[in-house]
Amino acid sequence: MYAIENHKVSESARAHTHLDDATYQRMYRQSLEQPDQFWAEQAERFLTWDKRWSKVHESDLSKGQAAWFIDGKLNVSVNCIDRHLAEHGDEIAIIWEGDDPSQDARISYRELHDKVCRLANVLKARGVSKGDRVCLYMPMIPEAAYAMLACARIGAVHSVVFGGFSPDALRDRILDADCRAVITADEGVRGGKTVPLKVNVEKALKDCPDVHTVITVKRTGADVAWDEKRDVCYTEATSAASNQCAPEPMDSEDPLFILYTSGSTGKPKGVLHTTGGYLLMAAMTHYYVFDYVPGEVYWCTADVGWITGHSYIVYGPLCNRATTVLFEGVPTYPDASRCWQVIDKHQINIFYTAPTALRALMAKGDAPVKSSSRASLRLLGSVGEPINPEAWEWYYHVVGEQRCPIVDTWWQTETGAAMITPLPGCTLLKPGSATRPFFGVEPALYDPEGNELEGPTSGNLVIKRSWPSQIRTVYGDHQRLIDTYFNTYKNVYFTGDGARRDEDGYYWITGRVDDVLNVSGHRIGTAEVESALVLHDAVAEAAVVGCPHDIKGQCIYVYVTPMNGVTPSEELVKELKAFVADQVGAFARPEFMQWAPGLPKTRSGKIMRRILRKIACNELDSLGDTSTLADPAVVQDLIANRIEHA
Ligand code: WTA
Repeated sequence: MYAIENHKVSESARAHTHLDDATYQRMYRQSLEQPDQFWAEQAERFLTWDKRWSKVHESDLSKGQAAWFIDGKLNVSVNCIDRHLAEHGDEIAIIWEGDDPSQDARISYRELHDKVCRLANVLKARGVSKGDRVCLYMPMIPEAAYAMLACARIGAVHSVVFGGFSPDALRDRILDADCRAVITADEGVRGGKTVPLKVNVEKALKDCPDVHTVITVKRTGADVAWDEKRDVCYTEATSAASNQCAPEPMDSEDPLFILYTSGSTGKPKGVLHTTGGYLLMAAMTHYYVFDYVPGEVYWCTADVGWITGHSYIVYGPLCNRATTVLFEGVPTYPDASRCWQVIDKHQINIFYTAPTALRALMAKGDAPVKSSSRASLRLLGSVGEPINPEAWEWYYHVVGEQRCPIVDTWWQTETGAAMITPLPGCTLLKPGSATRPFFGVEPALYDPEGNELEGPTSGNLVIKRSWPSQIRTVYGDHQRLIDTYFNTYKNVYFTGDGARRDEDGYYWITGRVDDVLNVSGHRIGTAEVESALVLHDAVAEAAVVGCPHDIKGQCIYVYVTPMNGVTPSEELVKELKAFVADQVGAFARPEFMQWAPGLPKTRSGKIMRRILRKIACNELDSLGDTSTLADPAVVQDLIANRIEHA
């Protein structure tokens, strides 16, 4: 059935088709066989350099080292704004769509330049300079993009913290990166509700004495605490500042941003990306994967707090002179037709979202979709988690009416840009497969012992050579970078994902093989939830596993051993779930909680998560070997008290 479907998809690809398949094959081969020549050509074509590089690339994966376009100089904000001004200054850079459907705004490239320069000057006046870290804790308003670009203009390193994170999570990230300035808003607005951003900043800053500046955008006008010495009103300060700001010349390998992400152990890691290689690959993938042509309206529904928002709302699109949509709200507010109404309203051509959103909308039936025309759409994208074939088919048939190819893009915070992805009009699609590698990306499948597997097979996904937008370090802890990504297997990058390769060489990502959960496209480490739980007085020990969930992809199931003398109760379950939401963020709230008088452990005291996962997911006949357990009886108790769910 899919074979026929595939042909339909490929023929109906009304893309501009920057590429045909033969060209993809030729370019892909060149990208691996003559990488320096290939990347030099791309870097010249996509970016404007102040000074050319002396060497294209140098890397040593065993040390987690990579450098691209060595000695090259460029400024990201110039590439994303200034160079478009002479001939295209009046074209629209950003369309802002408010949470309330009656609110929107259109910002031209010229206005973007004005706003970014003003904010850059405010930052400078507050003593922020090249290399300093600035924390952004923002709602989805244009000022979030201005703030990122203003940092890039003066060479400050931004660290965007998703607005859904708790004050504690914000504090930890500010301290880890030693940010001295914070940019935020009084409140955020999402799904008709407000988010107390400035209040959260106040709480976080109690433990951050080195933060000397907080710039606050007025979004709702809520009353907020104000410290004359530390607080700066965004509107007042930017109105008074000059709208011209000379860009800082940056080295290709100077840091551009830090973005925290969850791993299988310990606290979140500050993934550091640099300037030239990151921008090149963000722009290049945006161009090829979305087959982008200036003038088209492009909408990525991610939040700027995640890597998708960095690469595919801000940097990639603006570098390509795109019109990029920045959406403040959620797909289900005021109702389930919101996305499709927005597509009609702004005549959107390219729509890029996450499977979890699609499944939530699919559950509301076809009527909300059919209430819109969607005639402007020509391309659909998916990111963040494996897309199940059922959601793919719905996206393709109902949303795209069988005329829009779907690009299922696999990548990670650490990769900076799409790595395995179809190219529209060129790659034959298979529902549920991220298909083939992008240029310069050399994936492989390894078995647990580190042997490379050939042909159609399943294994752990690795990348065998450096690529320009590769993670450069874990901020402040390079050893952790090596341990996490470059020590599992020799001389390759380990993704943490499992994958299958089929007879056509297509990749099918099967999900994480480590202790990282993916809940509604949010990456959460089991260790983060566990350490939140054990902070509570009633909790002696906790273990967290993921279970499949129809809409969210995965949900969180926790086992909690109460402290001696604590009586388990429904009230306490509620309290503990709320406690996690408070400590980490609402998106990390556990779905299910089971009391566990004891946890299954090996004789050396290691919790056997594999068993806990099987019990939580009701896979009781495949519990495997429990003979190595210190006390096999605990398993029987856990099975007897498991929480039934679909
Ligand atoms: C998962 C998001 C299957 C994967 C860009 C990866 C995907 C993690 C896909 C990274 C996809 C992302 N198909 N799985 N198309 N895209 N993932 O860092 O498990 O938030 O390792 O980056 O999301 O999540 P992150």
